[in-house]
Amino acid sequence: MAFDIEKALVSIPERSLKVDEIKATGAKDIENFISMGVADMSFKPPTIVLDALSNEIQQGFFGYYGGLSNYKASLRTWMKRMHSWEPNSEWIHTAHGLVAAIGTALRAYTNKGDGIILFSPVYHSFRKIITANERKIVECPMIINDGRYYLDFDLLESMLTGREKMIIFCSPHNPGGRIWSIDEQRELAYFCNRNKLILIVDEIHNDLIYPNLNHVTFPLVADGFFEEFILMTSTTKTFNIAGGLMGNVIIPSARLRKKFAKANMATGESPNRFGMIMGERAMDEGQLWLKSLMEYIEENRNLFDKEINSIPRVRSMRLEATYLAWVDFSALEKEESSIMKKLIVDAKIIAKPGSSFGLGGNKFVRFNLATSRSIIEEAIERIKLVFNK
Ligand SMILES: Cc1ncc(COP(=O)(O)O)c(C=O)c1O
Repeated sequence: MAFDIEKALVSIPERSLKVDEIKATGAKDIENFISMGVADMSFKPPTIVLDALSNEIQQGFFGYYGGLSNYKASLRTWMKRMHSWEPNSEWIHTAHGLVAAIGTALRAYTNKGDGIILFSPVYHSFRKIITANERKIVECPMIINDGRYYLDFDLLESMLTGREKMIIFCSPHNPGGRIWSIDEQRELAYFCNRNKLILIVDEIHNDLIYPNLNHVTFPLVADGFFEEFILMTSTTKTFNIAGGLMGNVIIPSARLRKKFAKANMATGESPNRFGMIMGERAMDEGQLWLKSLMEYIEENRNLFDKEINSIPRVRSMRLEATYLAWVDFSALEKEESSIMKKLIVDAKIIAKPGSSFGLGGNKFVRFNLATSRSIIEEAIERIKLVFNK
C-alpha cells in the first residue's frame, strides 16, 4: 500500500520553532518565507498515529504514563524488523529526547573538564550539551573525498591527550547524510576499545534511509568484542513527532546501564505520555508509511541536487540518509554571513548555516527537504535566482 505523502502536507502553526525562526529575522512578511532550517517535517504523521492521539483525547485521561512493557515490546519488534537486531527489554531506558539523554550520559560517565570527541561538522546540539555540562569539546574534522565524508582516525589518534573520555557518533551522519559502513564502524569500535573511550551512538536518523541503501546498526558491528557503548534511537524524526519529546537509550552493558540508571534517576524524568503513545503506535504500524515517505523525499532530493548542482561552483552533497541537504557554497562566497543574508533577505529562505555544525561546516548550508514538491521547486527557483547572478 502506498501513502500519498503530498496530501499529508501540514500548514506550519504559530507555536512551532519553524515560525519562531522566521520571526527572528525581523521580517514583516513571514508568510512569504520558506522554512528549511529546523529538522522536523512539514508532513502530518501517519493517520494511525493521529488516531492514537485522538483516542487519548476522546478518553480524556491525561495522567501519568504507564504501559512501558508494551512500548518496549514494540521497540524490540521495530528494531528487529528494521535493523535486524533485537535489544533485551532490560537494556532499554527512555528519555525526554536524545539531547537530554546525551546530557544524562555525560553526567553518568564523565567529569567536568573531560574531553568529549565529535566528528565535525556534526549536529549542533551536541556542542551545546557538552558545553552546558562543562565538558570540553574535542573536534576531529572529517575528510571530504569525492563528495563524501570520511572519519580521520589518524588525526584523532594524534589529537588524544589522555583526558578524552567519550565519543559522540552520529550514524547516519547529520549533516551530510552519510551512512557509515561496517568497516568504518568496526574501526571506530576498535579505536574506542584501544583508547578506553565510551561511545555514544546517536542513530536518531537510522530509519530515514533512501531506497535500496542499507544502514547497519552499531550493536551488530560491535557484537562480541566491544560493549562500552550506548545506542540512542527514536521514533521522533522517523514519524515527525519530535514535539512528543521522547527517545530510546539502549545499553547492553550491565556496568554502563547501572550508571545511566543512577544519573537518569537524578533528572527526575518519567516518560512523556503523549510521545510514548504516538511512538508505540507508529512502530507497530508505520512501516509502509515510512517507505512511501522515503520514496517521496528521494524524489525531492534528486530534484534538489540536480538543480542546485547546476549553479556554477555550488555542490550539494549526495545524501544516503536523512532529509537534510548539505550544500557547499564555499567556492562562491567569501563569507558565510553573505550567503545567509542572500538566503534570508533575497530568497526568503530559512536554512541552517554550516558554521553552527562546527569545524568544516563554514560556508555550507543545511536545507530541510521534508516538504512538498512544489515548495522544493519554489525554493530551488529562489536559490538559483539569487546565486546564479
Ligand atoms: C543527530 C541528532 N540527534 C538528536 C536530535 C534531537 O533529538 P531530540 O529531539 O530527541 O532531543 C537531532 C535533531 O535534529 C539530531 O539530528
